[in-house]
Amino acid sequence: MKCRFSGKDIPKIIDFGEMPLGNGFLSEKISDEYFFNMSVAVNFDIGLIQLIDQPDPKKMFHQDYAFFTRTSNFMIKHFNEVADEIYSILDDRFINDKSKFVVEIGSNDGVMLENLVNKDINCLGIEPSKNVAKVSNRYGVKTLNDFFSLDISNEVLSNYQAANIIYAANVFCHIPDINDLAKACANLLKDGGLLLFEDPYLGDVLQKTSYDQIYDEHVYLFSCHSVQSIFGKYGLRLIDCKPLKTHGGSMRYYLVKDNKSSITENLKFQLDSEVSIGLLSLSTYEDFAQRCEFSKIEFKRIIEEYKYQNMKVVGYGATSKSTTILNYCDVGPELIDFIVDTTPIKQGKLTPGKHIPVKDYSNFLPHPDISVLFAWNHKKEIMDKEIDYKGKWITHLYDDLKK
Ligand code: TMP
Repeated sequence: MKCRFSGKDIPKIIDFGEMPLGNGFLSEKISDEYFFNMSVAVNFDIGLIQLIDQPDPKKMFHQDYAFFTRTSNFMIKHFNEVADEIYSILDDRFINDKSKFVVEIGSNDGVMLENLVNKDINCLGIEPSKNVAKVSNRYGVKTLNDFFSLDISNEVLSNYQAANIIYAANVFCHIPDINDLAKACANLLKDGGLLLFEDPYLGDVLQKTSYDQIYDEHVYLFSCHSVQSIFGKYGLRLIDCKPLKTHGGSMRYYLVKDNKSSITENLKFQLDSEVSIGLLSLSTYEDFAQRCEFSKIEFKRIIEEYKYQNMKVVGYGATSKSTTILNYCDVGPELIDFIVDTTPIKQGKLTPGKHIPVKDYSNFLPHPDISVLFAWNHKKEIMDKEIDYKGKWITHLYDDLKK
């Protein structure tokens, strides 16, 4: 395929086969369920994995979008901390600016911006999914219900003003036209303004073999090298980065619209370590593909073995990521009775493609023998909550399967 950023020919590394939408939970079985071929290619010159085909974004972010950030206490705490950090950057960097303005792209249900609105900061959320945007407005966060683009950045400049800070969490990896996105951010920022964004980190995905980070919504898996190349081309300089525990391992990138801020030691260290772990070499991605193949076979095999022993197997957390695991490994209701999930909009539905029933959390009692922790990225929160569970937890992750 051609790299979406550079237009260069880049090699395919994994074909996951026919895949439904990660968040495409169904009220009932339908004959025309949507599937697409999910495979990925790598631009190893800059450390960037990308989906070869992606469904039309309007199929994914719409009135019934199933992901609400407020469902996880850990994520609420995380976004409260982000708001504190943004507030202190505003204070440090823009102390004399009387018209401070913060824009969040993909503001979901407004959980982060609500904190800043409560501190009298002028904010705007931009969110394409109507149902979550509505919730955000209910929390007092002014929200534009649209996809962010260069055109929308011009609309915001006309109707509002230029931004001191743009923030996005788990959003940039969703946006196919990365060149338009980088241009739009540079356009909307004031001179000296900051772009902060965080996404699942390629280094973590490779290290944990967490291939479930790859689904229809995630067009890209970024590294510091790729962020530096892509955004640098449009005048946004990467100056710092912060590894995060969210989503099974993410990175927050700090970029500035100026040419004088120097880059931190922290970033220099991260760039060096990306080279030393082989992020810029094709063989690293070939090894990753082999580990995914191992996981695919072994995950199904061990569940079959438990079923053979008449054990009760259920899933914990009907994550969008679990859609990749279940469809790639070919695991359905014959192996996993149901999946419990605390998100009301998912309960009573069937998982995309494999049609495993999703039930409300009370069904975790009586406890099953085996629980497949699909929400493995919330492990700490869940283990603290499930202290009385005496059954066995399993995941699809390479290191867990190797044990
Ligand atoms: P995420 O991995 O995309 O954040 O999705 C997590 C899913 O797991 C979401 O559907 C909510 C669900 N979940 C539970 O059911 N119980 C829990 O304790 C947590 C933390 C998440």
